[in-house]
Amino acid sequence: MAVDLLLGLQWGDEGKGKIVDVLTSKYDIIARFQGGPNAGHTLVFNGRKHVLHTIPSGIFHDDTVNLVGNGVVIDPVIFKKELDKLDEQDVNYKKSLLISRKAHIILPTHRLLDAASETAKGKAKIGSTLKGIGPTYMDKTGRNGIRVGDIELVDWKNKYRTLADKHQAMIDFYNVDIQYDLDELEAEFFSAIETLKSLKFIDSEEYVHQAQASEKSILAEGAQGSLLDIDFGTYPFVTSSNTTAAGACTGLGVAPNQIGKVYGIFKAYTTRVGSGPFPTELFDKDGETMGRVGHEFGATTGRPRRCGWLDLVALRYACQVNGVTELIMMKGDVLSGFKTLKVCTAYKYKGEEITHLPYNIEEQNITPIYTEIKGWDADLTGMTEASQLPEALNGYVEFLEKELNIPITVVSVGPDRKQTIHRK
Ligand code: IMP
Repeated sequence: MAVDLLLGLQWGDEGKGKIVDVLTSKYDIIARFQGGPNAGHTLVFNGRKHVLHTIPSGIFHDDTVNLVGNGVVIDPVIFKKELDKLDEQDVNYKKSLLISRKAHIILPTHRLLDAASETAKGKAKIGSTLKGIGPTYMDKTGRNGIRVGDIELVDWKNKYRTLADKHQAMIDFYNVDIQYDLDELEAEFFSAIETLKSLKFIDSEEYVHQAQASEKSILAEGAQGSLLDIDFGTYPFVTSSNTTAAGACTGLGVAPNQIGKVYGIFKAYTTRVGSGPFPTELFDKDGETMGRVGHEFGATTGRPRRCGWLDLVALRYACQVNGVTELIMMKGDVLSGFKTLKVCTAYKYKGEEITHLPYNIEEQNITPIYTEIKGWDADLTGMTEASQLPEALNGYVEFLEKELNIPITVVSVGPDRKQTIHRK
């Protein structure tokens, strides 16, 4: 059976956690394939908010298997904290949580390296979540990394020491002021490794192939967004993994011809956290309203998110790169009350009007060209049926469908599981 994908189409924080949770009842297995604790997937149900970082968002469903794939990077310390939260809520994860032996491990010194590198960059910093993501993927591609399967070996601590010592030399080389107590960090790390070892490690690509062969349904849960992809995002202001559809192939071992539906998720406006170009960013009252009404603060770092109008040039690009088959629009409720909405449909680039995403999208290179659309003013948060949606919101949705030539099948009108409207 083909594997379906759910991918963020913007700069992350689109609401993937909520939608995976909503879709989970349709799937036997939910699998993360890239990223790590830089992600913050928020789920709200029964009046409670849950934030997951590395654990797949199907974990609250009893009958679902949750797989952390080979493309993910795991920080045992953060992973343990997530497990502790699940324990507090009596979530029985022991049987349902599986971890690929090929997933890489984030060491305490990876986090320190991240901090040293960002500090050394000064104003040019990426705005990383400082979870050690970049340095861990660097060690992966540099063929120095430590994988989950390694910690089952007797002599893995020698490998750890060699790598951690090398990292320390690199941190010293940066020559920046970073305070840390490595003994303390390592004590916490090794204790968390023991917790990790109590979970089930598997040869996950084999597991996925067997599951497919026995007609099990699988949803691959993306983290971050397409515009943060290491290849297709706004480099260098990106994360260090492939957040796009191809990442699910390498991050799980799924062949490209085994991909089924590709759900693309986007906010009705745009947000970005961290540095980097953002053509439709607003610095006025409208941007401030989006941030306030939409509670736009990072789920992992708490940083305020930058806000702006929907950018269809970027969204179209993300749909193409991912082969999106269905769109899911989030946070339409946040735009309620705007008399007029703007949607960027083209860029002015070197004196010409273009509709594709060019190499340079910094503000000195492009100017967004907007189409104005009538807004709506209604409390959407209690709505449950497509027939209840305001006419102007339907107009907005239909405009986007026409521009992107992809159906918008779900409109989300609030953070709760229940605030989800299926259109077709
Ligand atoms: P890193 O992946 O933590 O190194 O961060 C690199 C860039 O990606 C920074 O601009 C982060 O703010 C951004 N980023 C990483 N993960 C997320 C996420 O889950 N949501 C939104 N932005 C993210």
